[in-house]
Amino acid sequence: MSTLAQALAALRAGEAIGLPTETVYGLAADASRPEAVRRIFALKGRPADHPLIVHVAGADQLDAWAREVPEAARLLAGAFWPGPLTLILRKQPHVPDEVTGGQPTVGLRCPAHPVALDLLRAFGGGLAAPSANRFGRISPTTAAHVREEFGDAVPVVLDGGDCAVGIESTILDLSGEQPRILRPGQVGQAALEAVIGPVAAGADAHSPRASGTLEAHYAPRTPLLMLVRAALESEAAEQQALGKRIAVLARGTLPAGVEGLALPADATGYAHGLYAALRELDARGVNLLLAERPPEGEAWLAVHDRLRRSAAGAGAGHEGS
Ligand code: TXA
Ligand code: MG
Repeated sequence: MSTLAQALAALRAGEAIGLPTETVYGLAADASRPEAVRRIFALKGRPADHPLIVHVAGADQLDAWAREVPEAARLLAGAFWPGPLTLILRKQPHVPDEVTGGQPTVGLRCPAHPVALDLLRAFGGGLAAPSANRFGRISPTTAAHVREEFGDAVPVVLDGGDCAVGIESTILDLSGEQPRILRPGQVGQAALEAVIGPVAAGADAHSPRASGTLEAHYAPRTPLLMLVRAALESEAAEQQALGKRIAVLARGTLPAGVEGLALPADATGYAHGLYAALRELDARGVNLLLAERPPEGEAWLAVHDRLRRSAAGAGAGHEGS
């Protein structure tokens, strides 16, 4: 297990480390050093024009990375930081193009995890960190997942236990005319609107690029179908009759006579366990994964978004991997 001192030394040497946050584990490097940030892209196999989130120790860092910071950003940071909300703001000129993908904006977030906050305070600067998975794959929610992804290529991984939230932060673009959610997360539209008024949801033609918004993402290697419960049960029976091995990701309880996992019936509990469950089911070597379609409604929006993208990207030869 790696220590804070090892993590600091690695970061100061321009290396990338595994960093626990309350959402998912990040692959973190010094956001002020282009060569350190390039190391992240090389490790992930991610296209270099995809921007990274800069993690900071608190709202007092907003002006160090962003300029013309709107009042809405300060209100939201006050309300939700440390926490699972990323704010897209106009960047300070010094922010490297490697971090922003050459865009005029920067994504900022203060993570609500004691290990991440201790490290950020000791480090002093910002840490660029995407999720610590290879591009297009399932995000890691334990230190062991990070080791599975990168092995010896990332020798320093801070173990902060299981990620409490389990899915990535909400991304809110505050750089345009109107606040807009680019990626749904645990902080929902209603909660944001309670603080700053009307917020639009969904990327539009002017929205900056966000790889978390690619249609095929968060994907297992095994093909995955998302079906409502009744359709899932008949599909499972049909596939089994054809001699196929299937595994089911259910909500609440697992249907009788099938192999698989059941996640909690509530959205928060479900999100917490989602990626670990997908990873475990993917490792079983079955022919097909069947995921029970979650309920409609705002509480389930982020889970629904991740499952839909997992299904779109699952199996061999998917785009955006
Ligand atoms: O919860 C999270 O946000 C996790 C943890 C590690 O903090 N990080 C994460 O990073 O999910 P990543 O790189 O996997 O996803 C970040 C998303 C990407 O889709 C990226 O394109 C978008 O944030 N992003 C970052 N900077 C941006 C910018 N300036 N404009 C638009 N999108 C941006
Ligand atoms: Mg990611």
